[in-house]
Amino acid sequence: MSKHRVSRRQFLSYTLTGVGGFMAAGMLMPMVRFAVDPVLKASEGGDYVATKQKVDDLTEEPKRVDFTIKQVDAWYESEETQTAWVYKDDKGEIVALSPVCKHLGCAVAWNTDKSNPNHFFCPCHYGLYTKDGANVPGTPPLAGLDVYEHTTKDGILYLGAVKPHKGA
Ligand code: FES
Repeated sequence: MSKHRVSRRQFLSYTLTGVGGFMAAGMLMPMVRFAVDPVLKASEGGDYVATKQKVDDLTEEPKRVDFTIKQVDAWYESEETQTAWVYKDDKGEIVALSPVCKHLGCAVAWNTDKSNPNHFFCPCHYGLYTKDGANVPGTPPLAGLDVYEHTTKDGILYLGAVKPHKGA
């Protein structure tokens, strides 16, 4: 059985390396934590945001529903108002459409173009969408309006992420 002796020089070298590494880790950890803190922070709330819209008050006529979302940009938190056009289809299902035009991003509105009643109209370049959000061929937008995911709770409409229009 061979004896492995550690010289005084090796012992000092191991000890200094260990202590030095421990101290370096102690200094670096707060810096790393500071850098990635917003990423590690648990997101608050669910994926849906409550609106003030009562589900029972929705009709087959698209209605503008504004709602507020909290935005976190690194350490800066702010609130932003967003909009959806919401109605009940002929089966009573809720449809919530994004107002963002798929051409260049202007805001569309319901029934504001007298020559094309009962359409979503984009005033920027005369984009048109049918009530279900599909783009009207021959107008600038090449895709339908995005659709909000939604749910209801206690009779109130909650809106979530937007998804591409199913006809896109
Ligand atoms: S931005 Fe809507 S038609 Fe161009």
